[in-house]
Amino acid sequence: MSEAKRLAGEKAIEFVEDGMIVGVGTGSTVAYFIDALAPLRHRIEGAVSSSEQSTARLKQHGIPVLDLNATGPLALYVDGADECDPGKHLIKGGGAALTREKIIAEASERFVCIVDAAKQVPVLGRFPLPIEVIPMARSLVARAVLEQTGGQPVWREGVSTDNGNWVLDIHGLEITDPVALEARLNQIPGVVAVGLFARRPADVVIVGGDPIQVL
Ligand code: 5RP
Repeated sequence: MSEAKRLAGEKAIEFVEDGMIVGVGTGSTVAYFIDALAPLRHRIEGAVSSSEQSTARLKQHGIPVLDLNATGPLALYVDGADECDPGKHLIKGGGAALTREKIIAEASERFVCIVDAAKQVPVLGRFPLPIEVIPMARSLVARAVLEQTGGQPVWREGVSTDNGNWVLDIHGLEITDPVALEARLNQIPGVVAVGLFARRPADVVIVGGDPIQVL
């Protein structure tokens, strides 16, 4: 449990407006946001969830979980990150929920990212970059990533995503052009989603701490 994560999660409540359908990410920081959202459940229409884990927590609190196909575009998405650079580009997917997170981020007008200060980096890449892959393409994607980036792919063995796919974590990258790398990796057949949120970065980053920063 982290005080900084709790502060960031609770601060994000200020972006929730009456009648909203709120996009909800995944992870320990988001869990604080969900808990803080619970008392407002009668003032919002519901939530669109990025994972089975968040769905379970939302439902425990009696917050209706809606289907993105039925809701259309969302006004707000709140999610954590594994790393955040000064341009609000993110590495996500430490919790293996990157594909659904990316879909909801894309569908949302405003993406509020909640982190603690340890997630802030000048250049992305210290945290291994997650890539969700179709299982039969695991080695093909790993070879292509190594060849194209020099990064070392490691299979997150034993982990299956909510979509039934596998995850490769790419170690040793120094991501100076996150938009270009995201576009390049997305071209490899078998890649479902890349955990770089650069073409669609966060709009607002809340850094929990004393004082809380809203960037
Ligand atoms: C899940 C994610 C999470 O947002 C990321 O891993 C941060 O998690 P936490 O808030 O537990 O530090 O991308 O896929």
